[in-house]
Amino acid sequence: MPTIKVAILGFGTVGEGIYRILQERKEAIQKETGYTIDVHSILVRNKGKVRLTIPGTKVTDDVQEILSNPEIDVVFEAIVGEEPAYTYLSEAIEKGCHVITANKAMFAKHGPALLKHAQFRDVKVCYEATTAGGVPIIRTISSLLPADRVRRIRGVLNGTSNFILTKMREEGISFEAALREAQARGFAEADPTDDVGGMDAFRKLMILSTLAFGKQPDWQDVPIVGIDQLTIPDIADASKGNLRYRHVANITIEADGTLRGSVGPVLIEPGHQLYGVDGVDNAVIVDTEHLGALTLIGPGAGMYPTASAMVGDLLQIIGKRETVALTS
Ligand code: HSE
Repeated sequence: MPTIKVAILGFGTVGEGIYRILQERKEAIQKETGYTIDVHSILVRNKGKVRLTIPGTKVTDDVQEILSNPEIDVVFEAIVGEEPAYTYLSEAIEKGCHVITANKAMFAKHGPALLKHAQFRDVKVCYEATTAGGVPIIRTISSLLPADRVRRIRGVLNGTSNFILTKMREEGISFEAALREAQARGFAEADPTDDVGGMDAFRKLMILSTLAFGKQPDWQDVPIVGIDQLTIPDIADASKGNLRYRHVANITIEADGTLRGSVGPVLIEPGHQLYGVDGVDNAVIVDTEHLGALTLIGPGAGMYPTASAMVGDLLQIIGKRETVALTS
């Protein structure tokens, strides 16, 4: 059976999740695609800290051992921050590898350049896991275009913020205690400033903007407010009026093509699509010319939701076997 050799850059929660799913689903993937996936190498920061036993895979802290290897077909990237991730992926594309990333900070800024570079080198760049975790929003919007036109996108794009707001409302626990729990469960970033300050949701909104509208607004024109100023009394007052705070990222294209974006807490009424979106879930409402409003809801963070989105990207790249014989 032909083999696809993959490398995983970064072996934190998400990198480990990719490895686990590729092992757990090895036979099903072979059956569906006709390919064996070989995790050829993994880039780690510290070889002494790897928690799993990884037989048959090169575990290295030297990225050049991976990027200079002509046998690698696909590079998964699950590193935090713009650099060195952008440099590594540019190099991988230049070498002719397909790349799959979960890195929203890098992709919000450098996604357009990577996509252009990949087109030139005739490889694919997949980024489903950058936005809304396990919710297949990139695939969904891509499938609507260009037959339809997106008018507006709004939603809950940060699982940590939604988890904290839910815990504060349902259990009356403090912001700090709820954040600690989100960190313990692997939802929050190592430095959660961007989660609770709104920057993480903003970056995901910019990724969706590039996909849906082919451009982003000027970043300084988008007001960004986090949930870090909301108190338990604020949330309790809202509950008394049967309202719920949600951290909402929103972008609209106006008739003249101008993009208007905003990110911040919004009071939501019962009956609204975002009212019942609790815990670590994310939700995205896409308004289009032909469909009206389409809403997708699902887990927005965590090892398996994020990693399964990335393995889904791999399956998109390699394709499924034809299982139905077509007759003329
Ligand atoms: N820290 C992010 C969140 C992880 O809470 O949504 C998924 O991007």
